[in-house]
Parts: sequence; structure tokens; C-alpha cells
Amino acid sequence: MNIIICENYQKASQKSAVIIKKLLKLKPNCKLGLATGSTPIGLYQELIRASDNNEISFKDVQTYNLDEYCNISIDNEQSYYYFMHKNLFHHIYINERNVHIPFARAGYEKEDCMTYNNLLNQNQVDLQVLGIGTNGHIGFNEPNTSFEQETFIVDLDLQTRLDNQRFFGSLEAVPTKAITMGIKNIMNAKHIVLIASGVNKAKTIKRLVEGSISEEFPASILKIHPNVDLIIDADAASELDK
Ligand code: GLP
Repeated sequence: MNIIICENYQKASQKSAVIIKKLLKLKPNCKLGLATGSTPIGLYQELIRASDNNEISFKDVQTYNLDEYCNISIDNEQSYYYFMHKNLFHHIYINERNVHIPFARAGYEKEDCMTYNNLLNQNQVDLQVLGIGTNGHIGFNEPNTSFEQETFIVDLDLQTRLDNQRFFGSLEAVPTKAITMGIKNIMNAKHIVLIASGVNKAKTIKRLVEGSISEEFPASILKIHPNVDLIIDADAASELDK
């Protein structure tokens, strides 16, 4: 892993935007894996600015999102579909047909996982953006998920639901299940950019950088991927051994 420590969240967002802008210029029809959560919002703002300035174009870009809650409608403000449109897609020129966000219909979960997984197998992602959960999850691959796992329906960890209750108002309102790319799908990306910010991620980043590779800590598998940039701000880096 190539570790890049930035002064603050804004600098970390700018640094990750530089990497993505470079790819878009080199390969205008690239396939981008995108993430939700509060972390990539700064990156998306940088990309919107660059698109407004005609520095980059999303006209021929295809996007593949990591995950989505089950049993949530796309017009629910907490759905990842809503999030992606609000924070990125509504502000750039992108063909909606090129936007791929997983969904799982009640009663058709297996089929919907298979459909999304086939799509991923037919379209290798050039660059995958990742955040990280405090428990080391990537996408919604919770601790003890097999490293061989492909797209599936996950029972969300209590820790993940506690972390996300700030968006839903109460723990009861946080969905209990989600559809997510599996770790194997994520590892298939040619290049991965994981961003982390804030003191609440410091212990997680320490474990990622200094700990061993284990299914108990899903993000640890990234250490064997040949092309990972770990972009963290000073707060997220604050517990690392000097
Ligand atoms: C969420 C998402 C992840 C995200 C993580 C961290 O539950 N499924 O893709 O990386 O948790 O979120 P945040 O960036 O808000 O800390």
C-alpha cells in the first residue's frame, strides 16, 4: 500500500481527486468504482469543480457503486442511489445508463446479486474509491466475511448500524441488510484509492497499516493488492507508529 498522509480532509480530498482526474484524462471511457459515506464527499466536490471547469468529462465514464441498503426506495434520502445523485451525478454530465448502483428487491435478492455480480465480472473497474468502516469493513463487507466473497446480501454489523444511525435518527430506523460488492469484486479493480479522515478512524487505520491480514479485519486484504493508495489525513494517521 502506498500511504499518503495529507494535512487535513480538504487536502486528502484534493489528492484523491488528482488521481482520478489523471485517469479520466488518460482514459475518458474508464470504469470507476464509487463509494458512499461522508468520506468521499470532498472528493466528489473536487470532481464536480473540475467538470464545471471542463478539466474532465464524465460523458463516457461508467460508474459502479459498492453497495446499497435493502428495502429502501431510491427516493429515500438515505438510499445510496439518492446520495450518489445528490452528491455527484446531478452536478456532472453523465449518461444515466452508465451509472450502476446495486439494488436488491425483496424476494429477488439472489437474482439481483447475481445480476450485479455478472455485470462486475464483465466490466473490470479501473479505479475503485473506498472508505472504511470503523470495524475495518470495505463496501459492506463486515468482519469475518470470506476474502473470496462475491456480491451478496449482508446482515449489517451492530457497529455499522450504530455508526450510521446519525443519518437515520435512531438505531431502529437503520436497515439491517444491504447488498454489497464482495471483497473478491473489490480486489479485482486495477487500482484502489482508500480515503480515511478524522480521529474516529485513527485506530482503524493503525490496525490496517500495522496489523496482520485477517478476515476479522476485511480491509487488511488490500495489503496484497498490487496498486492501492491509502490517502489519509493527519487525524486518521495520528495513531500510526512514528
Ligand atoms: C458505510 C459504507 C462504506 C463506507 C463506510 C464509512 O457504511 N457502506 O462504503 O466506506 O461506511 O463511512 P464514512 O465515510 O461515513 O465514515
